[in-house]
Amino acid sequence: MANQKQQKNLKFLIYGKTGMIGGMLGKLCEEQGIPFEYGKARLEDRSQLVSDITGVNPTHVFNAAGATGTPNVDWCEFNKLETIRSNVIGALNLADVCEEKGVLLLYFGTGCIFDYDSEHSMGSGVAFTEHDKSNYDGSFYSKTKGMLEDPLGEYNNICILRVRMPLLSDLNHPRNFIKKILGYEKVVNIPNSMTVLDELLPMAIEMAKRNCKGIWNFTNPGVITHNEVLELYKKYVDPGLTWTNFTLEEQRKVLAAPRCNNQLDSSKLKREFPELLGVKESVIKYVFEPNSKKFDP
Ligand SMILES: NC(=O)c1ccc[n+]([C@@H]2O[C@H](COP(=O)([O-])OP(=O)(O)OC[C@H]3O[C@@H](n4cnc5c(N)ncnc54)[C@H](OP(=O)(O)O)[C@@H]3O)[C@@H](O)[C@H]2O)c1
Repeated sequence: MANQKQQKNLKFLIYGKTGMIGGMLGKLCEEQGIPFEYGKARLEDRSQLVSDITGVNPTHVFNAAGATGTPNVDWCEFNKLETIRSNVIGALNLADVCEEKGVLLLYFGTGCIFDYDSEHSMGSGVAFTEHDKSNYDGSFYSKTKGMLEDPLGEYNNICILRVRMPLLSDLNHPRNFIKKILGYEKVVNIPNSMTVLDELLPMAIEMAKRNCKGIWNFTNPGVITHNEVLELYKKYVDPGLTWTNFTLEEQRKVLAAPRCNNQLDSSKLKREFPELLGVKESVIKYVFEPNSKKFDP
């Protein structure tokens, strides 16, 4: 009962209605009976943001809006001003308005601001923590996201969730990492931190209820390689799957901007949610097992 009453006292305002994360958040709120509305404003329009927040009077705001590019972040290389307006000016506008109104903002950022380096080398198990500063700006998308973290981190009313290579049970979603790599002619094979959205997005809602603040590596513990993901797909979904690998140097030639690879340290999130699964267990439980029934021959 107390819990139901608590939910009624919540009111979420969510930006990113048409997006993958924003869409999933809205569905979760419906399932959990949490009152919410989607923001109508474009993030770069401060006066519209003020009118949204005044009209909705939310307890929490979620920013799942940003320029991510279609079909991928290469788009940002050719649309730099639009990217700055959404990912820098817009994100700061919303943080600033929320600060003025005294509302907690949960911002979906990215872990794609780090790349393996000599101190955090691939396979060493030395992962980037929430204290590390961005070391990767090789793509314009990552550059805008990295340059944003410093000023955003100065606000006291913000919870920054660093998402990476999102995996979800909807295997047809074009922004699902699995759907993406299945569509490539050739794939690299690198261990990376990833976010199993079906497990972690409900935790984002719980973090709002707990009024969590600061920076959080919002990924499952451990790393998984491209080939491990594809092997699981083959085991659970399509036994006939085949694929071809290529090197990072070969990958670089088919992209407008290089991509980063990294391991993020998820121990802060694990301390908050001891039940958090390692990335391999999570992807099996939340993504592949639910899909294996549908594809059972
Ligand atoms: N690096 C990673 O691995 C990673 C992965 C996933 C998510 N993320 C971060 O998480 C956030 C959400 O990602 P997503 O995958 O859900 O993105 P998505 O599917 O591309 O959706 C982006 C959403 O943002 C909205 N939007 C873009 N610019 C806007 C603006 N200026 N004002 C208002 N709305 C705007 C879009 O609406 P319109 O269509 O109307 O423009 C859309 O609803 C992004 O900021 C992304 O960077 C990072």
